[in-house]
Amino acid sequence: MIVVTGATGKLGTLVVEGLINQVPVEEIAVVARDAAKARRFGELGVEVRQADYSDPASLADAFREGEKVLLISGSEVGQRVPQHKAVVDAAKSAGVALLAYTSILGGPAADFELAREHQITERYLIDSGIPYVLLRNGWYHEVYTEAIGQALATGGLLTSAAEGAEVASASRADFAAAAVAVLTGDGHANAEYELSGDRAWTFEEFTAEASRQLGKELPLNRVTPEVHRGILEGAGLPGTLVPILVGADDAISRGLLATRTGDLSRLIGRPTTPVAEAIAQGVKSV
Ligand SMILES: NC(=O)c1ccc[n+]([C@@H]2O[C@H](COP(=O)([O-])OP(=O)(O)OC[C@H]3O[C@@H](n4cnc5c(N)ncnc54)[C@H](OP(=O)(O)O)[C@@H]3O)[C@@H](O)[C@H]2O)c1
Repeated sequence: MIVVTGATGKLGTLVVEGLINQVPVEEIAVVARDAAKARRFGELGVEVRQADYSDPASLADAFREGEKVLLISGSEVGQRVPQHKAVVDAAKSAGVALLAYTSILGGPAADFELAREHQITERYLIDSGIPYVLLRNGWYHEVYTEAIGQALATGGLLTSAAEGAEVASASRADFAAAAVAVLTGDGHANAEYELSGDRAWTFEEFTAEASRQLGKELPLNRVTPEVHRGILEGAGLPGTLVPILVGADDAISRGLLATRTGDLSRLIGRPTTPVAEAIAQGVKSV
C-alpha cells in the first residue's frame, strides 16, 4: 500500500492523480485531516484515512506495517516541527517500510528561516531508523506564476532578491512526478534528492516573459529588504511570516534556490517544465 498525507493539497492531489495512473487504486490510501475534502479520491476507490498532524492520537491508525508513505510537509509554518515529529512517530510505531518527506532544497545547507522546520524534520526522520527518502524540493514555478494577477494589481512583482539572482524552480507537477517515481520505484531507501528545475531564471527574465505573454508590462518592483519588510507588514501579513518571506529572498540573493543537480529530471525521466509554460497558465487565470 502507498499512503499519501497532505493529499487534499495542491501537490498531494497531483501525487495521488499520478499514482492512480500507475498502480491499482486498491493499493493507494490518503490521509486527510478533513475526510470530506478527500471524498473525490474515495469515490475512485482510494482508501481515505482521517488524521491531523496536530493530533497524535488521530495518527495512531493512519499507517500500517510495510506501507510506503509520503509525508507532505504541512502548511502551518511555525507548527510543523511537532506536527511532522508526530507523523514520523506514528509511522515508526506502525512499522512502515519507507517514509518519503517533502523537504527543502539544500537540506542542512539551507540556512534561512523557512528551512529550519524542514531541517529538524529531516534529522528526526533520519534518526528514527525508518528507511527514508528526502525529496528536497526547490521553489515551485507556481509560487510566482499564481501571483501574476496580484502583482499586476499591486504595481509589480515584489522582490528584495538581488539583481541577477537566479531561481531554479520547477512546476508542482514535476515535484509530484518525482514523489510518484520514488513511491512506485525501488532502490530509493535513504536517498537524498536535491530537486530543482533544469534551468534557472532571473526576476528580470521572469517579468520580461510574463510581460510578453500578457501583452502589457508586468513591472519588477525590486526593493531593499527593509522596504520589503515594511510593505509586507503594511499589507497585514502575520509578523512571524514577514521575516520568513524576506529571508527567502535573501536566500535567493545568495544563490541557495538556484542549485541544479539534475536529480529532478533524472527521477521523472524527462526535462523539467520550462517556467514559460507555467507563466502561460498564470497569465490565463489573470
Ligand atoms: N516548494 C515550494 O515552492 C513550496 C511552496 C509552498 C508550500 N510548500 C510546502 O509544500 C507543501 C505542499 O505544497 P502544496 O502546494 O500542496 O500546499 P497546500 O495546497 O497548502 O497543501 C498542504 C496540505 O497539507 C495538509 N495539512 C496542513 N496541515 C495539516 C495538518 N495539521 N494535518 C493534516 N494535514 C495538514 C493540508 O490539508 P488541508 O487540505 O486540510 O488544508 C493540505 O492537504 C506545503 O504544505 C508546504 O510545506 C512548498
